[in-house]
Amino acid sequence: MLTWQNMYTEMNIMVMGNRRKVNGMRVLCICGSPRSKGNTEYLLKVLVSEVGGEIIRLADCHFAHCTACWSCRDAGRCVFNDDMTTHIVPRLLASDAVVLGSPIFFNNVTADMKAFMDRTWCLRGALRNKIGGGIVVGRRYGAESAMSAVNSFFLKHDMIAANRGVTGLAFDKGEIVHDTEAISATRSLARRIKELVALTCGNDGLRRDSPGASGSGGGDRMRAG
Ligand SMILES: Cc1cc2nc3c(=O)[nH]c(=O)nc-3n(C[C@H](O)[C@H](O)[C@H](O)COP(=O)(O)O)c2cc1C
Repeated sequence: MLTWQNMYTEMNIMVMGNRRKVNGMRVLCICGSPRSKGNTEYLLKVLVSEVGGEIIRLADCHFAHCTACWSCRDAGRCVFNDDMTTHIVPRLLASDAVVLGSPIFFNNVTADMKAFMDRTWCLRGALRNKIGGGIVVGRRYGAESAMSAVNSFFLKHDMIAANRGVTGLAFDKGEIVHDTEAISATRSLARRIKELVALTCGNDGLRRDSPGASGSGGGDRMRAG
């Protein structure tokens, strides 16, 4: 069967080959803010300054919402040939750690972030044992529910959440620079990601044998859910 894993094996090497890597780690940050150079992006940049990697701004990408056509159940890949399929998915598959950063909108992640999450259904099994990090930023309300959405994403994909995540307090663009606690928590998250990537990617690491790494597609994860 045609799967994401065998389609992208070659492509992944090309895609991640030129990215900034620290200690051989590949960290992919997904930014769900519609604002360029906003508060969420700032914290993601702090993280990248510690562990390397790249930031994808969903607002710069064009991709459809999941339409629940379920073609991916048989085809092993999504029917849409948009930025999600051609740009984001190869990078997700090639990463060791995925950091989701979202502003809090109406007590939850942004619509872009949720659309991104839904479009990863077709990858079930392929992100297994990758490390997940969460960053949410808001003025005051709904951080727990936004972080819960991020952690549910990691759990759904059998990923390993690095820690409880970072909550930043900021409203206007740039205000986050005053939240020194969030900045320091972002550095801690970066350190924890480093530690867990080393543990899971070492000679006896989890990911060498995982369905995501081997390309077997994840067995019973092929069911809807
Ligand atoms: C449509 C909208 C809804 C928002 N809802 C919330 C909310 O529920 N809770 C909160 O604390 N902040 C809320 N905010 C404030 C943003 O989370 C805040 O401005 C954040 O710093 C934006 O991050 P960014 O600069 O990365 O885009 C909302 C902002 C917008 C535009």
